[in-house]
Amino acid sequence: MAANPAVVPGAVRQVSLRLEVADPSQDGDLGGIALPAELQRAVPVRQLHFRAGRYCALRALQLLDPERPVGTLARSPSGAPLWPAGVSGSITHTDGFVSAAVAHTTTIRSVGIDSECIMSPEQARSVATVVSWPSELAYARDAGLDRFQALTLVFSAKEAIFKCLHPLVGRTFDYHDVRIVGVDAGTGTFRARVVQTLSREVPADSIVGGRFEVGERWIHTGVFVPAARAALTEAPDGSSGAARYPSVAVAAGLAFGKVP
Ligand SMILES: CC(C)(COP(=O)(O)OP(=O)(O)OC[C@H]1O[C@@H](n2cnc3c(N)ncnc32)[C@H](O)[C@@H]1OP(=O)(O)O)[C@@H](O)C(=O)NCCC(=O)NCCS
Repeated sequence: MAANPAVVPGAVRQVSLRLEVADPSQDGDLGGIALPAELQRAVPVRQLHFRAGRYCALRALQLLDPERPVGTLARSPSGAPLWPAGVSGSITHTDGFVSAAVAHTTTIRSVGIDSECIMSPEQARSVATVVSWPSELAYARDAGLDRFQALTLVFSAKEAIFKCLHPLVGRTFDYHDVRIVGVDAGTGTFRARVVQTLSREVPADSIVGGRFEVGERWIHTGVFVPAARAALTEAPDGSSGAARYPSVAVAAGLAFGKVP
């Protein structure tokens, strides 16, 4: 097991694993988790990541609801995990690290987590213009991140936003449909603006807040949408909403949680 990055509120149950496997076809205890048909021919490392993600997710579901029988977690045609009724969640895997986060939808309507290895110069060269605008990198650089950390943060934040919002808006959207407009290293938070309307609930100019953690090897990000009532009355970790989440931005019905 690995320590959970501090990117989601306390109401979210998260389980993380360090994955240091010399031979990805030897996946030990994870082997009991069945692969979906579309991954039967995938490379061993992809199969290992899928199984490890499901393993973390099933452990996190047990933490959330200890009485729940251990089941399986199907995959939607879009690739999103099909969580049990009343549960929101998210899975991420990257080289050496896997994590899953789950919550009750009565508290957290949707959650997205992402972990990425800090990019190499070659990776950065090939993805920079695809995933970012110069202004986004400037916010991250101004917060003290080096240029590889900055690009990795922008990329990871957008992946977390996508995983959180895709199940709610029901459509795909692009890296340039969301723009990072603030990074605060002191509080480990970022802000992003939705550039074009994604749904009635998420119109253009909605502000999404999220949290990040920079480690030596990985950058972790987390975004969540609190259930509307929880946002108005109490924060997802049970403390006073107003005190703990002073900057929750309410956008046409959706309240995005910004962890201070
Ligand atoms: C789906 C996507 C976000 C996954 O992110 P990633 O960094 O490549 O990979 P991660 O390992 O962190 O996450 C993979 C997990 O995300 C989850 N996932 C996949 N599609 C998803 C979706 N539509 N909604 C929510 N979660 C999804 C799955 O659990 C998947 O793991 P699994 O297949 O083993 O179950 C990414 O591949 C993608 O398609 N991005 C393009 C769209 C995008 O990000 N736009 C940016 C908008 S600002």
